[in-house]
Amino acid sequence: MGFGILLKAITLWLVLVLSSVGKSNAGFGLRLGLSKASHNRKSHESGHAPKGYHGKSRHFKGRRVGHGSNKPPSFVPPINTSSPPNLPPNKYTSSPSRPSGLQVGFYKGLCPNRLVDIESTLITKVQQQFRQDPTILPALLRMQFHDCFVHGCDASILINGPSTEKTAGPNLSVRGYALIDALKDIAEEQCPGVVSCADIIAIATKQVIKMGGGPDYSVQTGRNDGLVSRAQDVNLPSPFLTVSESISAFDAKRFTTEEMVILLGCHTVGISQCTFFQDRLYQGNTQFDPKMDPILRKQLQPTCPKGTTSNNNSTFLDQNPQSSNKLDNSFFVQILNQRGILPIDQALARHPQTIAFVQQFARSATLFNNKLASAMVKLQALDVLTGNQGQIRKTCSRIN
Ligand code: HEM
Ligand SMILES: *[C@@H]1O[C@H](CO)[C@@H](O)[C@H](O)[C@H]1NC(C)=O
Ligand SMILES: *[C@@H]1O[C@H](CO)[C@@H](O)[C@H](O)[C@H]1NC(C)=O
Ligand SMILES: *[C@@H]1O[C@H](CO)[C@@H](O)[C@H](O)[C@H]1NC(C)=O
Ligand SMILES: *[C@@H]1O[C@H](CO)[C@@H](O)[C@H](O)[C@H]1NC(C)=O
Repeated sequence: MGFGILLKAITLWLVLVLSSVGKSNAGFGLRLGLSKASHNRKSHESGHAPKGYHGKSRHFKGRRVGHGSNKPPSFVPPINTSSPPNLPPNKYTSSPSRPSGLQVGFYKGLCPNRLVDIESTLITKVQQQFRQDPTILPALLRMQFHDCFVHGCDASILINGPSTEKTAGPNLSVRGYALIDALKDIAEEQCPGVVSCADIIAIATKQVIKMGGGPDYSVQTGRNDGLVSRAQDVNLPSPFLTVSESISAFDAKRFTTEEMVILLGCHTVGISQCTFFQDRLYQGNTQFDPKMDPILRKQLQPTCPKGTTSNNNSTFLDQNPQSSNKLDNSFFVQILNQRGILPIDQALARHPQTIAFVQQFARSATLFNNKLASAMVKLQALDVLTGNQGQIRKTCSRIN
């Protein structure tokens, strides 16, 4: 790609980031009224100079010098369902020592009333919410990705503050935040001071993945909440990245190319605003995609008219109308049929380093489920704080 085009893509992205402030979403189809924002900003505290947008792969490499030092080393702990953690006699102590490390069933027996199974209580609430509004699935999935990918799965995305996206921009997913808050209320009522917000996100995300038709895997818990409080971090991959740039971005987080492809398969649910794909629709644009399925192009053009900049319209990331809200492998079939929406999504099906994975996931629902389950376990374990690191927030949107 020429330098000019690249520059344009980066400029466009920046413009989108800025112009998305204050917009609401007109919605489309079944998704009317869903408030969304792009994967571009995240609350985050850092001791360093504020970060700008990093759209180029070279920015992803070796950047986290300042952050890396207090993070545990990267690893994917084995799933251990066999038994709960060793329990301190914590009935009357206000701050029981917390076992270090993630494990399945971490909270079993950890509440003041040891009979309380807080995880299953939370799950019941998530189930109710999902039945009311299944779009909680894409909302939480994206929240989980944002939380983990930028600063570790430490619930930093939930923090309110003068320069966080919750206050500064369109809400990433208002319903998502509201559910996390409701779950935290339940947790504090039944098991005060014990359940982290980071774990609440993980438990809820795992549950909606299952309810949305995805894999039913064992979610690990034992995360603590981060001590981040402010500043913006727009350090997430842009949808205009090339495949190699995206591979570098995921590699910087120790994800393989295959894991990147399966995680991007989460775009089998949810929607995207026109701003992220409308330039692919019109001949003459540098981003014009002549290979896009012409039927799809025709359908999308009226939704995203040429040159409109203040367009709140959106469309499904998975263009199979039967499965746009289902967490299945249909997204991969669609991109093989040149019916991808985001530029990066479509690019996966055309790049030599990713096309074989795309084909495998399109072919096998079982493979899709298995690979997604392990990639989610890995994503949800990314740079977590455990043991005596961080804290258990009293309120998810505030550092104690
Ligand atoms: C290179 C990596 C990625 C890029 C560039 C990217 C970009 C985007 C963009 C631009 C949107 C549309 C946002 C909007 O219109 O407001 C979106 C939506 C979404 N993304 Fe990603 N994404 C990436 C990876 C992921 C991953 C790893 C996950 C999950 C594990 C994920 C889950 C979602 C979901 C569920 C939605 C739909 C949200 C909704 O309907 O509200 N994305 N993504
Ligand atoms: C788009 O969002 C803006 C800001 O919320 C709103 O004023 C406008 O009416 C919306 N446009 C459409 C077409 O819904
Ligand atoms: C699972 O945990 C139990 C005790 O917590 C331990 O004895 C066992 O070795 C663990 N198994 C694995 C596979 O880690
Ligand atoms: C964002 O959500 C909060 C509640 O979580 C609400 O008070 C605020 O008005 C919302 N802002 C926008 C721009 O939608
Ligand atoms: C949004 O899409 C509808 C058709 O789906 C179209 O009629 C309308 O003009 C679009 N709005 C904007 C602002 O482009």
